[in-house]
Amino acid sequence: MSLSGSAKIAGIIGWPVDHSLSPRLHGYWLDQYGIDGSYVPLAVAPENLADALAALPKLGFVGANITVPHKEAAFGLMDRVDDDAARIGAVNTIVVSEDGSLEGRNTDGYGFIESLSFDIDLQVTKDKPVVILGAGGAARSIIVALQDYGVGSIRLSNRTLGRAEQMRDEISGDIDVVPWDRRTEALRDAMLLVNTTTLGMNGQPALELELDALPTTAIVNDIVYSPLETKLMVMAAERGNPTVDGVGMLLHQARPGFAAWFGYTPEVTDALRAHVLGRSRS
Ligand code: ATR
Repeated sequence: MSLSGSAKIAGIIGWPVDHSLSPRLHGYWLDQYGIDGSYVPLAVAPENLADALAALPKLGFVGANITVPHKEAAFGLMDRVDDDAARIGAVNTIVVSEDGSLEGRNTDGYGFIESLSFDIDLQVTKDKPVVILGAGGAARSIIVALQDYGVGSIRLSNRTLGRAEQMRDEISGDIDVVPWDRRTEALRDAMLLVNTTTLGMNGQPALELELDALPTTAIVNDIVYSPLETKLMVMAAERGNPTVDGVGMLLHQARPGFAAWFGYTPEVTDALRAHVLGRSRS
């Protein structure tokens, strides 16, 4: 729709940002709800992040999403942050307040839990171990969300052992660090397996993982969504495990930001999913 002079403007700040699906996602909701607003990609180099964030209120933006590689740096540039952002040490959503101050939030963990509980009964995972592969920013928000949700024990395996140990020490709680070459053993009795590494992403090597020890009732979630059908997802589906792909987390993490900026709590639907994945021209 065409914009008026009082249109609300938000966007996504990343470097690079051209592969982001967020403009397509928010654009769909803006159209669907007939909102006088826009959501734009903003390619901001790391050395310009502070200036770009300071400019948001001056340009009249209602807020922004923050993506790779800026989530941690943006955290340090906020006027205040919510509890999730404080625990994760990173920001993915900024709300510009009426006084022009910047509030940093982190909705990645919310998006993760919502995407899983959307079509799966997560309660069943609470008493059984959860296996997390990878110890980057995505792993951190997912672990914090799982702990808040009430899962018992977490087995954390990462190629760089020290990074997993540091994360365990910083987050605390029931987290066992498993060496990368023993990740297969960690699958025994697990009820949820999450790949948060970049392995399996287009242009990256596949995730090599024998699933034999994983119960066939365990949920398998790959946060990689490009491609949607990673080797892990295909292998898991072939042996009958319930699978959750990575797009759900992207769709659900976007809802709170949209609601704060544009005043509508948007829905995640199959049509939205198809649109974001480029399977529909609507
Ligand atoms: P994000 O913040 O999005 O989670 P990241 O911090 O770059 O991204 O983390 C990427 C994850 O993928 C890390 O856990 C990384 O392992 P290291 O900590 O050892 O770097 C993991 N990863 C990337 N390439 C990998 C590879 N070839 N083999 C195993 N793990 C890999």
